[in-house]
Amino acid sequence: MEKRQELYAGKAKSVYTTDAPDLLVLEFRDDTSAFDGKRKEALARKGMVNNVFNAFIMERLEDAGIPTHFEKRLSNTESLVKKMQMIPVECVVRNIAAGGLVKRLGVEEGATLTPSTFELFLKDDDRGDPMINESLAETFGWATPEQLARMKELTFKVNHVLKQLFAGGDLLLVDYKLEFGLYDGKVILGDEFSPDGCRLWDAHTREKLDKDRFRQGLGGVIEAYEEVGRRIGVTFPEV
Ligand code: CDP
Repeated sequence: MEKRQELYAGKAKSVYTTDAPDLLVLEFRDDTSAFDGKRKEALARKGMVNNVFNAFIMERLEDAGIPTHFEKRLSNTESLVKKMQMIPVECVVRNIAAGGLVKRLGVEEGATLTPSTFELFLKDDDRGDPMINESLAETFGWATPEQLARMKELTFKVNHVLKQLFAGGDLLLVDYKLEFGLYDGKVILGDEFSPDGCRLWDAHTREKLDKDRFRQGLGGVIEAYEEVGRRIGVTFPEV
């Protein structure tokens, strides 16, 4: 597989074309950002940790019958993925109240949410990823009602699989964000699943083991990501 030119550089990942027209290389960089890119820092080993973590999760999801763009891990920091047409809508499921929900609605952090909530946000950094709904997505052509229904179904399937996986490592999956795209006309899971895009707490102490450590300046960010990985059976290469 030959990596060709850079197609796009996001806040934490870069995307490259390859000699195959329907495959791309995702490069996970050490760059870390929060608050819509207002806070940026490079954290040593983060690219490797998130790439290896994401590969492990995507394989578990594929095993559970969830279609994803993931093909295979190529190196410590690169993975091969299917080229999709991205749907510019982020899907967020929350099992426990934290982050934006607490800020917006004033509910108590840590409250169990029954049933788990489902929210949509527009992928638009300049506008701070505003919250949207199905009506707006349909009217503005961001996704069709059928695509939105499938995205919701897959997002909850992911919840079922990952809540159990993390519970096995004494971890609570508090919330997470997923992105989808179209491949061969079908909705498939894209982007990444790593502690950068979800909240994970220790089940007993409720210690935060995700990107909130970076957002809140708690330190030990990558050590926490590695701890989470180890607890669910991820083996990180020595670097
Ligand atoms: O980021 P913030 O806490 O303001 O937003 P949230 O709505 O509470 O985020 C819910 C979950 O989605 C968290 O696990 C975030 O890390 C994740 N998220 C993300 O990965 N990317 C975004 N643009 C927004 C949320």
